[in-house]
Amino acid sequence: MEFLILFLLLAVSLCSISFFYLLRASRHRRLRLPPGNLGLPLIGETLQLISAYKTENPEPFIDERVKRFGPIFTTHVFGEPTVFSADPETNRFILQNEGKLFECSYPSSISNLLGKHSLLLMKGNLHKRMHSLTMSFANSSIIRDHLLDDIDRLIRLNMESWTDRVFLMEEAKKITFELAVKQLMSFDPGEWTESLRKEYVLLIEGFFTVPLPLFSTTYRRAIKARTKVAEALGLIVRQRRKQREAGDEKKDMLAALLAGDDGFSDEQIVDFLLALLVAGYETTSTIMTLAVKFLTETPVALAQLKEEHDHIRADKRESRKALEWSDYKSMPFTQCVVNETLRLANIISGVFRRAMTDIHIKGYTIPKGWKVFGSFRAVHLEHEHFKEARSFNPWRWQNNSSSPNVFTPFGGGPRLCPGYELARVELSVFLHHFVTQFSWVPAEDDKLLFFPTTRTQKRYPINLKRRYKCGEAL
Ligand code: HEM
Ligand SMILES: *[C@@H]1O[C@H](CO)[C@@H](O)[C@H](O)[C@H]1NC(C)=O
Ligand SMILES: *[C@@H]1O[C@H](CO)[C@@H](O)[C@H](O)[C@H]1NC(C)=O
Ligand SMILES: *[C@@H]1O[C@H](CO)[C@@H](O)[C@H](O)[C@H]1NC(C)=O
Ligand SMILES: *[C@@H]1O[C@H](CO)[C@@H](O)[C@H](O)[C@H]1NC(C)=O
Repeated sequence: MEFLILFLLLAVSLCSISFFYLLRASRHRRLRLPPGNLGLPLIGETLQLISAYKTENPEPFIDERVKRFGPIFTTHVFGEPTVFSADPETNRFILQNEGKLFECSYPSSISNLLGKHSLLLMKGNLHKRMHSLTMSFANSSIIRDHLLDDIDRLIRLNMESWTDRVFLMEEAKKITFELAVKQLMSFDPGEWTESLRKEYVLLIEGFFTVPLPLFSTTYRRAIKARTKVAEALGLIVRQRRKQREAGDEKKDMLAALLAGDDGFSDEQIVDFLLALLVAGYETTSTIMTLAVKFLTETPVALAQLKEEHDHIRADKRESRKALEWSDYKSMPFTQCVVNETLRLANIISGVFRRAMTDIHIKGYTIPKGWKVFGSFRAVHLEHEHFKEARSFNPWRWQNNSSSPNVFTPFGGGPRLCPGYELARVELSVFLHHFVTQFSWVPAEDDKLLFFPTTRTQKRYPINLKRRYKCGEAL
């Protein structure tokens, strides 16, 4: 997901630039554009942005501009003038008016990888229908009744095989991929899922090829990998159609797509599944890794979290017993840790949209056709909205709920992330098993970077020790 958003930023549509420059001279003199700096011709402020986001502290890029121009300013990045919003109300306005005043638009290099029938690229009524279908596939009662067992089981299964040194990010990715395949089409991990994952990793790399994807070997390899993944998924879809006709029904996303009155084609279903696989993969695995990183760096929080989870384990007596929904619901501090990690990590730093018409907001005009970036990151890290916003403080969420405009890690409006609850549950269960089973120390210093995606430089290598011998009760 994040790369999608970054990619909007990254994919340079060269021909539009000259057009904009011509247009600006005549028409925009009459409009009151948000103040700002367009930087150099063509590249604008792109290089400043990239070099800021390649460090551990990219905030000055935004801070300096907000200080000079206010929370809504104009910049010019990745080939287009872009209105940047660090203002919660404006962000809300952008999210809520998706499809009316704003629409998301992805470059063709992205849509070729995703497939044209993916939820991310759908518009209008079809989007509405498919978005609500996706929301109900992962709503809390479905997670409680159907998905939680597998989440618990697959996370434990993965952790059983961990050695005394792992790259946490790699392990988290393996877990999230296996979970997604299970949830979408009821496949248990095995050789098939591992070989699918290998292709899939190549496909994901395609999203990061910048700035001229069509000339890059990585991109061509990604397109090939996409074909293979789509073939593998297509095979499953055909099998399942047959099974369905023979009266064998499963309970998963694929079943919902096959059962729909819409009569989706195999191609439509494959695109749809593939995009869901993409959307939950990097995001959830990164948030797992960063939660552990933040906790490691905040020992008091880690101790409190451990206590909460040891307590849940102790109540179970039988050490291998699975977590239940009631356990998930009795992790108040964990939920603070989850929110605080989402707030500070900003896996998706904001959303790109295009103005469908001239838009008047806060005394400014955003001209039709311009790009807009609603930055969640800028709001999440602003002291006015969160006291000492740049430090990890899970306790800030105790006795407190932030206003919904201010905390939007999953976006909002018609494109609200359908995986928002699922991601929270997966992270909580992951943390539960991780802190109850292991103690650990970072194996090397590792840094957070934000470009082209939010990640740690070295995939977070850690040295692990099992807290209890295998099979021993707590
Ligand atoms: C920590 C994990 C996650 C974060 C931070 C996250 C964040 C987001 C955000 C901000 C959006 C809105 C994008 C926009 O408005 O343009 C979004 C959309 C989406 N997310 Fe997530 N997401 C996460 C996990 C997941 C998971 C596990 C799934 C799988 C079910 C998922 C599926 C999707 C889909 C399909 C969309 C597109 C919705 C649409 O365009 O209608 N996400 N996500
Ligand atoms: C969740 O979705 C299912 C259909 O998949 C629906 O029957 C149920 O009412 C929904 N539950 C909630 C809490 O929205
Ligand atoms: C976490 O954030 C969500 C909003 O996304 C909020 O509804 C919830 O109450 C918060 N949890 C805690 C423990 O503050
Ligand atoms: C939250 O409320 C509880 C009980 O009212 C109190 O003991 C605790 O100190 C409060 N925490 C914060 C961070 O205000
Ligand atoms: C409570 O939430 C508000 C709004 O998010 C925030 O400004 C404030 O700092 C929070 N309180 C504490 C004690 O952190």
